[in-house]
Amino acid sequence: MAITLDFSGQTVVVIGGTSGINRGVAESFAQHGAKVAVASRSKDKVNDTVAKLKELGADAMGFCADVRDVEAVKAGLKQVHDAFGDFDCLVSGAAGNFPAMANGMSPNGFKAVVDIDLMGTFHVMQSAFPFLKQPGASVINISAPQAFLPMMAQSHVCAAKAGVDMITRCLSLEWGPLGIRVNSVCPGPIDKTEGMSRLAPTPEIRQRTIDSVPLKRFGLPEDIGNVCLFLASPLASYVSGTIFPVDGAWSQGGCGDMQVGLAKFFE
Ligand code: NAP
Ligand code: COA
Repeated sequence: MAITLDFSGQTVVVIGGTSGINRGVAESFAQHGAKVAVASRSKDKVNDTVAKLKELGADAMGFCADVRDVEAVKAGLKQVHDAFGDFDCLVSGAAGNFPAMANGMSPNGFKAVVDIDLMGTFHVMQSAFPFLKQPGASVINISAPQAFLPMMAQSHVCAAKAGVDMITRCLSLEWGPLGIRVNSVCPGPIDKTEGMSRLAPTPEIRQRTIDSVPLKRFGLPEDIGNVCLFLASPLASYVSGTIFPVDGAWSQGGCGDMQVGLAKFFE
């Protein structure tokens, strides 16, 4: 059976799409014909990503915004809408993470992650709403296993990503009647990303992490890209409100080994 995913003529916006997993997602859509827009704080990262997306053959553009600044997000999304039209797919993946035990983190450290991951997701979704194709748009929030599994040194991220998944579920109810689907994707440990360099910073923790994944390997950005292609495609036209782990079954075992290794750092 041949399955072709063709996003020609479609507009895909990836917030936080200028490095790591989300950039991989943006590149996957570019390789499948979409017009792709990316956004993040760094002008250099935005420019570099747009150049790469164009190299892949896509119509591409980008804008700089901090997702904590709702007006900047709104203004950037309007520019994208003016240039590329209604959004067929919105991927919201900007996030911040650092390992720290709750007692070793200031209230502002906790707040920084909640503001980026949770408030940022709300800002992005609410600001994009007027530009989403109705019916037909697919919204994908990039979440994490921390949303549903407690982890040491991750109380801020666990709290924020749990909230992200609740936004996914609530807005799938509110937006479903308009023909807009909303899902979360929860990547497992993805190799060569900022997230993994922070959470598995030593060869020992890296090995513990691989050993704890039932499929016995790190994931790759294209593993997440492939699932986003599926969720944005007609193959997923009845899929909404789901929390979709893409983690080699890592979360089934509780993601325990990485955090135990990490916790030793703070003893
Ligand atoms: P990353 O490369 O650091 O990606 C984060 C992206 O968000 C970058 O484009 C960054 O660009 C942007 N960003 C960060 N703060 C922002 C802000 N305040 N406003 C706007 N943009 C902002 O990290 P990653 O490891 O690939 O993670 C990507 C996503 O996957 C995150 O949602 C993360 O929680 C999730 N995840 C990652 C893993 C993993 O194994 N890495 C596992 C589970 C879930 P600028 O610096 O230019 O702003
Ligand atoms: N341990 C404990 N606290 C930390 C910390 C760490 N490793 N790193 C930052 N913080 C605290 C800071 O001390 C500060 O609190 P304070 O004002 O009480 O001192 C607070 O977090 C905010 O730090 P700041 O550097 O001002 O925030 P920022 O908005 O510039 O950056 C971060 C946000 C901290 C999340 C930063 O790591 C970031 O931009 N990350 C994006 C990339 C990323 O994390 N990728 C991984 C995948 S999600």
